[in-house]
Amino acid sequence: MTKNSTSRADVDHTRAYFMRCAALSLAVGLLVQATAAPAQNEDRVKAGVTTWRNSGCADCHGAFADGEKQRDESPTGANLRTTRLDGAALKQTIACGRPGTGMPAFDEGAYKIRACNGQALGPPPSDLYPTPRTLTPDEIDAVVTYLQARIVGKGRTITKQECLFYYADQPDWCDDYK
Ligand code: HEC
Repeated sequence: MTKNSTSRADVDHTRAYFMRCAALSLAVGLLVQATAAPAQNEDRVKAGVTTWRNSGCADCHGAFADGEKQRDESPTGANLRTTRLDGAALKQTIACGRPGTGMPAFDEGAYKIRACNGQALGPPPSDLYPTPRTLTPDEIDAVVTYLQARIVGKGRTITKQECLFYYADQPDWCDDYK
C-alpha cells in the first residue's frame, strides 16, 4: 500500500463516520419533532378555543358553532360544523368579515394594511357589522386551528365530550349530550 492510498482510506473512514453521526442526529431530530408536534398542536387548539370564547363568536354562532346563537339580540351566525370552507377561506372570512351580513371583520388591519377578497388596499367597506373586538393574525390562525381540529366536519350532533372540552367547569348538563 502506498502512503497515498492509506490516507485516502482514512479520509473515507472519517467521512463515513460523519455521515453516520449526521444520519443519527437527523433521526433523533425527527423523533423529537414527531413527538412534540401533536402537543404543540393541542396548545394551539387550546389557544384557539380561548380566543373563540373571548371574542363573541359564540354570541352569534353558539358555543358549539352550530348556529344556535347564545345572545338573542345578535345576528344568527352560520353553522361552522357543516361549513365547506378550507383553512384559507376560514382565515379570510374571520379576518375580513362579510360586508352586508352579520359577520364582522376581526383583523384591525383588514382592507387597510392586509388585502381582503383580492381587492386593492383601501378603507374597509362601510357595511361591515361592528366587531366586538379585534384579533391579531396569530389569534386568527389559532381560531382556525381550533375550528379545523374540533368543529369543521363534526356534523350537527354535539357530543358530551365536546361539551366537557368547551366548558372548563364541567357542568352536569353536559350529560344531556351523548
Ligand atoms: C355579530 C355576529 C357574529 C360574530 C360575533 C361572529 N360571526 Fe361569524 N358569521 C356571522 C354571520 C351572520 C355569518 C354568515 C354570513 C353570511 O351570510 O355569509 C358568519 C359566518 C362566518 C363564517 C363563514 C361560514 C361559511 O361557511 O361561510 C365563519 C368561518 C365565521 N363566521 C367565523 C367566526 C368566528 C371564528 C368568529 C369569532 C372570532 C365569528 N365568526 C364571530 C355572524 C357572526
